[in-house]
Amino acid sequence: MRIVITGGAGFIGSHFIRHVLQHHRDDTVVNLDKLTYAGNLENLADVADDPRYSFVKGDICDAQVVDRVVAGADAIVNFAAETHVDRSISGPQDFIRTDVLGTHTLLEAVRAHGVERFLQVSTDEVYGDIASGASVETDPLRPSSPYSASKAGADMLVLAYRRTYDTPVIVTRSSNNYGPNQYPEKIIPLFVTNALDGQPLPVYGDGRQVRDWIHVADNCAGLDQVLRQGTLGEIYNIGGGNEVVNIDLTKAILRRLGLPADLVRYVHDRPGHDRRYALDCAKLRALGWTPRTAFDDGLASTVAWYATNRAWWEKIKSGEWRRYYEQQYKGLG
Ligand code: NAD
Ligand code: TYD
Repeated sequence: MRIVITGGAGFIGSHFIRHVLQHHRDDTVVNLDKLTYAGNLENLADVADDPRYSFVKGDICDAQVVDRVVAGADAIVNFAAETHVDRSISGPQDFIRTDVLGTHTLLEAVRAHGVERFLQVSTDEVYGDIASGASVETDPLRPSSPYSASKAGADMLVLAYRRTYDTPVIVTRSSNNYGPNQYPEKIIPLFVTNALDGQPLPVYGDGRQVRDWIHVADNCAGLDQVLRQGTLGEIYNIGGGNEVVNIDLTKAILRRLGLPADLVRYVHDRPGHDRRYALDCAKLRALGWTPRTAFDDGLASTVAWYATNRAWWEKIKSGEWRRYYEQQYKGLG
């Protein structure tokens, strides 16, 4: 297969590129990425010289670039997105542009070039929060933030293209990913790197919110399985089955690093903050997939990765990140 992977310089996309190159010797990968603040080619340094891999700097909203890259592709996996909920609250515009209009640009290219599979990488956040039980693929969408509303808009468009034009699409909705190379704005890399620097960990609201964590390697295996064996027009949830309360996660990180709980700071809650996500993944499990990483082991290896890869995140934290952090966490010591 010749696969176009958009947003491949980001966190999950870079792991997915490595997964494909390692597991499918006959595949080639083109990585189309705009290199926003979240895109980092260092995430792919180990595959940069692989003859089966190439990189194109470009925007998924740019029909000309998309057309050129997509010509001759067998499949597209769309990771490219603005992804951070807090940034979507302070500035929704880029989210609507990239997540909705960018997906539309890709769908048009799929139609024009007869691409055989289009995998839209979506999120459990489109279901909104759920007090008990687990979201199933047929549940209605109730997004809470401009980020999740943009992702839901893209999901709707993708599925409408299936119905109207018979476009060969599949949608995955995964839960919160964690692992190496995650930009230090999401809770785990932010808290681990702050803790390593002796800085406070800002817990939103009462810290009793719940997320279902999946190791990025398990998500990549699920995505790959859906790409190759999923049924066109279908939606597949990909969850880790690890429900963790934020404050417990925060304390677990501090414990792992042997640091005191007094680094915890309760701060102003996120507006519209979703209380709990949980996914029913029976549909993907029926294809033979199962998550393999126990959360405690995954957290331990992730904390160890950030501890031994300071150069990776110190560079990020000295750039655009600092302006964002000072704005988002005003007044935090
Ligand atoms: P990320 O923020 O780490 O990376 C996003 C990548 O997309 C970056 O490399 C960025 O440069 C690129 N990009 C942004 N706008 C672009 C544009 N207009 N054109 C081309 N490239 C562009 O994101 P991530 O955490 O790796 O998430 C990847 C995908 O998975 C997203 O679609 C996200 O919605 C979805 N997802 C993420 C999670 C999670 O926990 N991180 C969970 C479920 C779903
Ligand atoms: P995040 O990593 O931003 O992922 P998402 O909002 O997409 O689930 O946040 C995960 C949880 O951690 C969420 O409930 C918000 C909370 N959180 C904090 O309490 N403090 C923080 O500084 C951040 C970034 C998140």
